[in-house]
Amino acid sequence: MSLAYQHGYSLKALNTFGFDAVAERFVAIDTLDQVRELHADIRRKPQPLLWLGGGSNLVLADQIPGTVAQIRLRGRRIETLNSDEVRVTLGAGENWHASVEALLDEDIFGLENLALIPGAVGSAPVQNIGAYGVEIGDRLEAVEVFDWSSAEHYWLSREDCAFGYRDSLFKRNPGRYLITRVRLRLNRRPAPVLTYAPLRQALADQSEPHPRAVFEAVCRIRRSKLPDPAQIGNAGSFFKNPLIDAAHHQQLRDRFPDLVAYPDGRHYKVAAGWLIDRLGWKGYRGGAVGVHRHQALVLVNYGGGNRQQIEALSGRIRRSVREAFAIELEVEPGFYPPTVQP
Ligand code: EPU
Repeated sequence: MSLAYQHGYSLKALNTFGFDAVAERFVAIDTLDQVRELHADIRRKPQPLLWLGGGSNLVLADQIPGTVAQIRLRGRRIETLNSDEVRVTLGAGENWHASVEALLDEDIFGLENLALIPGAVGSAPVQNIGAYGVEIGDRLEAVEVFDWSSAEHYWLSREDCAFGYRDSLFKRNPGRYLITRVRLRLNRRPAPVLTYAPLRQALADQSEPHPRAVFEAVCRIRRSKLPDPAQIGNAGSFFKNPLIDAAHHQQLRDRFPDLVAYPDGRHYKVAAGWLIDRLGWKGYRGGAVGVHRHQALVLVNYGGGNRQQIEALSGRIRRSVREAFAIELEVEPGFYPPTVQP
């Protein structure tokens, strides 16, 4: 069956910023055969192509040239490896949070710190999603990809994925690897990760918190700080937490004793939210866009905002952080079509 392309398709409901972007051509992809068919179509008629997952880490322009393909490949398979370990294979189009919750319901643990992260399973390795002391790279065994350059379908090992902080092989090679399935190595024995202080504090009354309690605490913390995209458009943290060297850290610490920064190898990782907050941006609103009032790292769209407005705001924040702290903030979400960093 040929693909059901739609022309002039609104992506407003398909990106968590809620930007009213219009795709020149849109298609939903439910099967691997459709992936192959799309590949052949694009080869026949070369044009820009965006693979869309949950649209939760994406800043879209008003008009999207070429084709947007929404990846909806489903599936969940659970294999018991031994009394403790479980291998879970998830289709790229599965919802991340729903998968975390469904696994917890089956007493499969290891993803509870990553609860409530918006988006699709297939997008999770691209950003190497992380929260409250755990990154998906810590739990991942392999990623199945359709290689757009060779039209081959194969598995990449965790090492191949070259994970870093909000970084991966996929992020460094946009358009090359279409993720079709993700394979995780999880546990039946609870092994809570409580390295993140506010999470530890939230569970301080329990000596051995069950993963279900960790899951609930993570959901509570996230809901108190991060806006729900169903209510206020956003793409989570808009900037990465920057790394600075020890001398720079000392210099800033002398000037700002309450600076929030943690040693990270030979560098220090600075809380970008603190920097932006310190400059008075938290709760700022300019027209339809602004800075979330509970977490300065999150830029929001109150409704009717667009990419130009977010770019202008991001540019102003980056400039003020550069001038005050001599730190260059890096934008976290992807921009499509890509441009120079605002
Ligand atoms: N802070 C402020 N003011 C603010 C925000 C933060 O002073 O407005 C300070 C606070 O002292 C706080 C510290 O910064 O203790 C760190 O803030 P938070 O715990 O909220 O974490 P974050 O560093 O701002 C990162 C991730 C989040 C993830 C949390 C929890 C990045 C870019 N962001 O945020 O990930 O949920 O840690 O692990 O690394 C995302 O990537 O979209 C995301 C939400």
